[in-house]
Amino acid sequence: MNSLSILRVFLNGLAAWALSAALGSAIAQQPIVIKFSHVVAHDTPKGLAAEFFAKRAGELTKGKVKVEVYANSTLYKDKEEMEALQLGAVQMLVPSLAKFSPFGVKEFELFDLPYLFDNYAALHKVTQGSIGQSLLEKLEPKGVVGLAFWDNGFKSFSANTPIKTPADLKGKKLRIQSSKVLEEQIQALSAQPQVMAFSEVYQALQSGGVDGTENPISNLYMQKIYEVQKHLALTEHGYLGYAVIANKKFWEGLPADVRGQLEVAMKESTTYANKIAKEKNDKDLEAIKKTGKTQVYVLTSEERLAFKKALAPVHVKMESRIGKDLLERVYRETGSSAQCAAGCYCRGGTCAITCCR
Ligand code: SIN
Repeated sequence: MNSLSILRVFLNGLAAWALSAALGSAIAQQPIVIKFSHVVAHDTPKGLAAEFFAKRAGELTKGKVKVEVYANSTLYKDKEEMEALQLGAVQMLVPSLAKFSPFGVKEFELFDLPYLFDNYAALHKVTQGSIGQSLLEKLEPKGVVGLAFWDNGFKSFSANTPIKTPADLKGKKLRIQSSKVLEEQIQALSAQPQVMAFSEVYQALQSGGVDGTENPISNLYMQKIYEVQKHLALTEHGYLGYAVIANKKFWEGLPADVRGQLEVAMKESTTYANKIAKEKNDKDLEAIKKTGKTQVYVLTSEERLAFKKALAPVHVKMESRIGKDLLERVYRETGSSAQCAAGCYCRGGTCAITCCR
């Protein structure tokens, strides 16, 4: 072994020791403190659900657990938070699903596919069913336990010029999360994808570093999009949701009764999160309209279909990245019309849907 390898082994050992010391001390504390970090504002579907979980965790464990919620990237930004979780610097996170691919679990990019879910019922068949469960299990080798999926909502595009057709986005620099599927989506519109942390988007829009962005309404509203974007088109072209995750060693090291109580708190929080998400997005849309600063455009069904058709090739291109079997299972179980827009995607007749809506 050369001296570099010896140093690497030593540093790995040191990191492992620091991790178990951090986890051990988090559990040994009275009360047990869970640092729960996220990147959006408090008054968003995710922020509110995180607070709800903190409250119910305290109540159900009768004060044995104190969940400290850190919103708005106050502790860590998008990329750093995953590392912080693995190192035990925080115990729980709730990243958006696109953030799991840079973490090494590409299958989560499934959720980034444009127009994959026709409605919330179709989406919940995946997130609250066996497909969702098997996706969460893929996180375990990374030292992470997947606890639940929480909704935000369907994303829309904003810019400083009107958006009615895919051609209206041509050539624009559009901010996306770090996801190959989202990159491909933006390229399918002949626009330029710009990967950027959530916390940096407002400034980039303000300075003209990017021309536009995509997000569910609640995120756009809390980012004060109405101050920096003149137009918002309700394209609802893709889904943005979250997976609640915990450091595996920490979670499994909790006393069994406490873990059970936290699981109940998580179940209640998931019901709450998925109930308020749509309400919050609807309310925030009205609030954006009320500012009078951003013009909100509702696409006609023909305009919506034009976006769907323009983005359909993304499904075909990304099939091998996400996994053909997984994708076909999702199409089958949700009855997704995306495959139809892709020009009857199901070659060989293996899918349930055979018509083009
Ligand atoms: C989030 O909702 O957590 C952030 C989403 C984004 O980065 O666009």
